[in-house]
Parts: sequence; C-alpha cells; structure tokens
Amino acid sequence: MKDEFSEILFTDEQIQQRVKELGAQITEDYCDIKPTLVGILKGCFVFLADLARCIDLECDIRFLQVSSYGFMSVSSGNVKIGNEMDFEIEGRDIILIEDILDSGFTMMALRNLLMKNTPASLKVCSLLDKPMRRKVQIAPDYLGFECPDEFVVGYGLDFSERYRNLPYIAVLKPEIYG
Ligand code: IMP
Ligand code: MG
Repeated sequence: MKDEFSEILFTDEQIQQRVKELGAQITEDYCDIKPTLVGILKGCFVFLADLARCIDLECDIRFLQVSSYGFMSVSSGNVKIGNEMDFEIEGRDIILIEDILDSGFTMMALRNLLMKNTPASLKVCSLLDKPMRRKVQIAPDYLGFECPDEFVVGYGLDFSERYRNLPYIAVLKPEIYG
C-alpha cells in the first residue's frame, strides 16, 4: 500500500465480486428491456467498463461530462453538461452510472435535467455511497458499497486527477488533501 493511504477499503477482488452481483441484478431487472447506461465522467469510467461486461443484455452506452460550478450552482439544480447530450432520452430506460454519491447535489440536478426529457424510466447505479453526507433526498437504486465519511481514491476515483487507475479503493490520508 502506498504511504499516502491509511487503509485499503475495498480490494480488487471485493470490487469485482460486487460488480458481478450488480450486473446480474440489472440483467434480471431489465430482462426484456434494452437499458441505456449513462456514465458520468470521469469517475465512472472503470466501474462502467467492468459493470457493462457483467450485464448480459443489449445495452446502449453513453457518457455525460458534468462540470461542477461550485456548491451553490449545483444545489440550485444548475448542472452544466460539458459535452452535448447527443442521444435520445425520451422513451428510453436510463441507468445513470456514478462513482460516488456524496452530498447528492450532482445526481439530483442531473436526474431533474434528464427527467425533463421524459425517459421511460430512470434509475441510479452508484459504486459508492456516503449516506451520512447527503444534503438532498436521493438514494441509489443499485449500490456497490456504503463508504465511510472519508476521502477515497482508486477504481476511477481521483484526487487532483491522480489514482484513478488503481484496481482497489483506498482512503487518502487527510494530510494529502488537507
Ligand atoms: P455530490 O454532488 O456531492 O454527491 O458529489 C459527488 C461527486 O464528488 C462525485 O462524483 C465525485 O466526483 C466527488 N467525490 C465525492 N466524494 C469523493 C471521494 O471520496 N473521492 C473522490 N471523489 C469524490
Ligand atoms: Mg464524479
């Protein structure tokens, strides 16, 4: 383990096992439906790549780059999408794929935005959740793991664009980001 980490929270093996279970659950729940997986960049990229290969269905895979313009703009629902939303939402069964739910502002704002385009259904799948930090009422429909109130990195999650490529999830020591 690297010096910057205080603990490995979830190992490669634990993550792969849980991702398989999530994929099987989604496969069962969407058995006659072609879901559109919408990954929220960049944190989702590892999770979505693994999850998609554990879903035994025809899937449409899309990405949205969401820019956070600070606490206030996000909390007011003013989420800015960095790339063009160049795919159909209307009538589609959307599963938003996120790395982590923290305050919930990002996901809430994004969900409200997509709901304006009248999808047939919209669910949220998050690898991690910090429920104790929630500021708005939103919960994932599919969840990998509950996460303690610490800053975590790896498996797509970054600190200043570092650590995304680690196969495990670790707790970053506060002195590194503090
Ligand atoms: P929210 O709008 O507060 O729920 O923000 C969620 C976003 O914050 C996630 O998509 C991550 O990009 C980022 N984030 C929150 N907690 C962590 C963490 O522990 N490590 C890395 N990124 C995090
Ligand atoms: Mg993110």
